[in-house]
Amino acid sequence: MKDLVRMRTSLSEEVQNILNEQIRIEAVASAKYLAMASWCDERGYENSANFFYHQSDEERKHMLKIFHYVADMGGKAASPEVAGINHEFASLREVFETALEQEIGVTHAINRIVDTCRKVKDFGTEQFIDWFVEEQREEEFVARRIIELFDVIGEEGQGLYFIDKEIPNVKYDA
Ligand code: FEO
Repeated sequence: MKDLVRMRTSLSEEVQNILNEQIRIEAVASAKYLAMASWCDERGYENSANFFYHQSDEERKHMLKIFHYVADMGGKAASPEVAGINHEFASLREVFETALEQEIGVTHAINRIVDTCRKVKDFGTEQFIDWFVEEQREEEFVARRIIELFDVIGEEGQGLYFIDKEIPNVKYDA
């Protein structure tokens, strides 16, 4: 069986495993963002909710991008199990801080894929994963910038209203 798989795909077992792990990570990220969207929606933070609905869609697209890559390379892409998604947050700020922590975690996971690719000399997969390296720069930037809004605008009085209002204007323009 193992030999048959080797004939069908040029992906090493190590690379295929780490890509399937990334598929799971992206699926979890999508589910977490959906929970964050729900939390914001319920409390009337409309722009924040839309931001997280959009992010949830983006993470699913990331998952599928890797899923199709593994399948297109003749590998075995695995549909991941997602469970235990947190729906409880103490504040809007905590929601965005959790989002940033999550993105930093994803960046580390992507870096581990690059590292594995270099170790086994899988330059094709390294080239494919480059897109994600750039994407992570953008996603971390946006999450960080939004958290800065909490300090710049302040959370007192109508602060949270104005922070929410400002969310769609946060863009990565590097
Ligand atoms: Fe697909 Fe935000 O990591």
